[in-house]
Amino acid sequence: MFKKLATNFFVDFDRSIIENLPDLKHQYGQPYPVSEEIHWMSYEASENEAKIPNSDISFSTHTYKFMPEFTENVIEKFKETFGTEISWDKERIRILRTKGYIYPHVDEVRNSCINIGLFNSNLAITHFGKTNNISDFEEPLNTESYICQDGEAYLLNVQNLHAIYPTKESNEFRYLITYSFIADYNTLLKYIKQS
Ligand SMILES: [Fe+2]
Repeated sequence: MFKKLATNFFVDFDRSIIENLPDLKHQYGQPYPVSEEIHWMSYEASENEAKIPNSDISFSTHTYKFMPEFTENVIEKFKETFGTEISWDKERIRILRTKGYIYPHVDEVRNSCINIGLFNSNLAITHFGKTNNISDFEEPLNTESYICQDGEAYLLNVQNLHAIYPTKESNEFRYLITYSFIADYNTLLKYIKQS
């Protein structure tokens, strides 16, 4: 389940600061790698994903420490766009990058998130199952989908099965802001200002 929240969420983003960070691997369901160093935390491919080369999903760590101006700007933009009922926390801002196929899954740790397209975000389509049954993904009518354009913001229920498939062949990463919530999707819809 997802909801488009905004179409004009633009912040200056210099990906050269982060694109070559070291990459620490994390296996779904296992403890996170711990490091004080700035790095990408990238997911080990599942058995099915491993059959498709060049797929990757990674999250930046310590983002507010090494991109202080960027995260300040994002917080200001959150207040302006989504209101101040939520106390926005810069430590919850991460950069998400993906490439290729990410198979149906529910997220670890978080219940919902806001994702915002920063660069190349339309290189993939995000599918959400209408139920939490994996067979939804075998039949396109049982999923609801969107392609995020840069500057667009979506609220996502990431405890709902979802998958990412490429819209075209590309070896480039797509970059998004991702802001994580423990609160659930329906609760957030009550507190987020919507235009
Ligand atoms: Fe996910």
